[in-house]
Amino acid sequence: MSAPPSGGAFFLRLGAAVLAALLVGAPCPALAEDAFKPGEIWNDTAGVPINAHGGGMLVHDGTYYWFGEHKTEGSAGNRAQVGVHVYSSKDLYRWKDEGIALKVSDDPASDIVRDSIIERPKVLFNRLTGKFVMWFHLELKGKGYRAARNGVAVADRPQGPYRFLGSSRPDMGAWPMNVREEDQIQGPDKHLANDFALGQQSRDMTLFQDDDGKAYLIYSSEENQSLHISQLSDDYLKTIGRYLRLFPGTPLEAPALFKRQGHYYLFASGVTGWKPNAAYSAEANSIWGPWQMLDNPVRGAAEDVSTTFGAQSTYALPLPDMPDRIIFMADRWKPQNAIDGRYVWLPVEWEHDKPVLRWQSAWRLPVQSSIKRER
Ligand code: GAL
Repeated sequence: MSAPPSGGAFFLRLGAAVLAALLVGAPCPALAEDAFKPGEIWNDTAGVPINAHGGGMLVHDGTYYWFGEHKTEGSAGNRAQVGVHVYSSKDLYRWKDEGIALKVSDDPASDIVRDSIIERPKVLFNRLTGKFVMWFHLELKGKGYRAARNGVAVADRPQGPYRFLGSSRPDMGAWPMNVREEDQIQGPDKHLANDFALGQQSRDMTLFQDDDGKAYLIYSSEENQSLHISQLSDDYLKTIGRYLRLFPGTPLEAPALFKRQGHYYLFASGVTGWKPNAAYSAEANSIWGPWQMLDNPVRGAAEDVSTTFGAQSTYALPLPDMPDRIIFMADRWKPQNAIDGRYVWLPVEWEHDKPVLRWQSAWRLPVQSSIKRER
């Protein structure tokens, strides 16, 4: 892997390219190659549209890895026909296709048989075991969204291949640390208590790795009327029954949790299926709360505010060498032709220490945010 250019060399190259373009009147190559263009088709380095929806990012040894749902054409493409796709990049603009990290199975007895639903894959590196651990939302074939489980897979290399270990519901037989007495009584719509023995429902999800190496699964639960933050075991392979229930009674999905200057932040969406809705944001001093709901983080045109730019959050990426700079990653779903779903990446801005998002049709990072470090 070649090291990315230093800041000075980069500007020189960029300056020469822009000058050449101006002289010959060609489109500016810097913008064509080195800009995020939310909502537009985004090709990989082979010229094929990137196929990694509901994605998540792993940063490892000087490389970014983008994992996402490989979608296919038509509405059947919303279900898993292929598996989890992975791409790698040094600069976040140019993505190399690294293939299918986790393949669906042809065995009808497998939980990840073709035509099951595999969504929102996220990968962490576990320093204790040296393994890459993938979690995803799994729905069993032919059961709609009723199973509400998580799948877990491991690999020795970031790109995989990942070996599927199994699926389950999190936090079986455990109450959240902030449980109230009335939550422990079963009844209609008392999902926390009703699912106590089975494990909690887990649909839209993300992973978050803290600076101390502890990792958390954040999942939409209780018929998507609450989020749970749940600590993972030291090997990241399971939940350990230590979890917090967030904003019970609030329809919440699409969690993306990140840390900035020792403070925790969360983006999420409402619950309207594939249709976009208004975003939520929240903050806390500790992962275990108390979490405070903030305003809708979107600023700008009314339609952008009410639909989160027509998209739904999937991940928030703090840049490794510029931890104050965070990229908000979201999906514009196309349920009738799943493969045509688009990516909306925007820089997180700050207003009085609260994260906000504004539309930009094309934008760039400061040059330092290419990964410089090589091990
Ligand atoms: C969305 C969710 C997607 C997918 C979809 C199915 O709300 O965020 O990941 O599950 O519902 O309708």
